[in-house]
Amino acid sequence: MAPDSDRNRRAFLRLLLSSPLFAYGASLSAALQDDFVITRPEQAINVMEFEAAARKALPPGHWGYLATGVDDEETLKANREGYSHFQLRPRRLVDTSKIDMSVDLFGTQWETPIALAPCGTIFHPEGAYAVARAAQTRKALTIVASGQEEQRPIETVMKARGGPVWYQLYASNDFDDTLKTVKRVESAGTPVMVWTVDTLPGTNRETTQRLRRIDTRDCKSCHTTDPRTGRPGGEFRSNTVTWESMRRLRDATKMKVLIKGILTSEDAELCVQYGADGIIVSNHGGRSAETGRASIECLTEVVQTVRGRVPVLVDGGIRRGTDVFKALALGARAVLVGRPYQWGVSAFGQAGVEAVLSILQNELHVVMSQCGTRSIAEIGPNSIVRRS
Ligand SMILES: Cc1cc2nc3c(=O)[nH]c(=O)nc-3n(C[C@H](O)[C@H](O)[C@H](O)COP(=O)(O)O)c2cc1C
Repeated sequence: MAPDSDRNRRAFLRLLLSSPLFAYGASLSAALQDDFVITRPEQAINVMEFEAAARKALPPGHWGYLATGVDDEETLKANREGYSHFQLRPRRLVDTSKIDMSVDLFGTQWETPIALAPCGTIFHPEGAYAVARAAQTRKALTIVASGQEEQRPIETVMKARGGPVWYQLYASNDFDDTLKTVKRVESAGTPVMVWTVDTLPGTNRETTQRLRRIDTRDCKSCHTTDPRTGRPGGEFRSNTVTWESMRRLRDATKMKVLIKGILTSEDAELCVQYGADGIIVSNHGGRSAETGRASIECLTEVVQTVRGRVPVLVDGGIRRGTDVFKALALGARAVLVGRPYQWGVSAFGQAGVEAVLSILQNELHVVMSQCGTRSIAEIGPNSIVRRS
């Protein structure tokens, strides 16, 4: 039989383990560890914390599709790093009791310049509906990807949003077929179409391929299960879509047409010449060409070329309110975020997207106050400085 002192010690340990204080202590030590993963959206203190939660929630093939860039992922990394090349110039003693973050896009006033980028696959059973409902709660613009629209018609997404959403188009070499899609979404009442042009020649997404090799489940929406179908060197597509196609598109619809995927002044000028109503500076979140150039680094040459003739938006690597602020200071009318809300929806559905939007909106509010800018119009070139 164990001596009394041993029995007393064991009884004391049992008591300690069953006590709420112990549970608090355990969660405290978990929260202090670097590998702490949020289990509820309310726990997140910034949007990056949703990344680990999504990774935990998703099987490897899905995670690979979401995370991937192209080649060595230099562009993906550059997108994030690009924001550190600009620094803020805070201003003091400004009455910032009222901050107005609203922006006008084609006659519609949005309460926030932070919009949800089109993403072809949404890893949640409610898909685009979950995202649209979150956009409604947080009063944000959402752009429905063509891949999503095939599963959930745009009319029904608008119902979930409780208002208009934009549609993102991919054109195919059979342009007559593309025009049929354009007519259909226009007749559904879509006000604005975003034509994505940066994946037409094909891409080389290696992280997707690498992770799908170890994911044997059948999931055709984002990856194939046969490892032989991964093509070393990437998927080359024989593209015949050109600026002439933009002319046909322009003539075919009364919807506003934005071109997404522009990175150079030459193409920015062509966008205006061929009648685009707006431009989205984007490298598809580092998923199209391995340029190595951050999208934020491409914004200035596009803005300078366009000279206010059409609005310019930007996306890629935006993870902080300060990133949004810097993009607006460099001349963007609004910004899109992709992966952050994808992490949110993958881990927590609608509530995850709401939390991501709420954090970014809040961070933007704080930085606008710090810089003494009470409206988006007050954010300008003097609000930031390029790191020397
Ligand atoms: C998983 C995933 C799927 C995407 N699908 C599409 C798509 O179908 N159409 C499109 O125009 N862009 C698509 N994009 C690109 C986004 O619209 C956006 O340009 C990019 O995510 C912005 O970069 P960020 O993820 O760093 O915020 C996708 C991006 C991701 C991460």
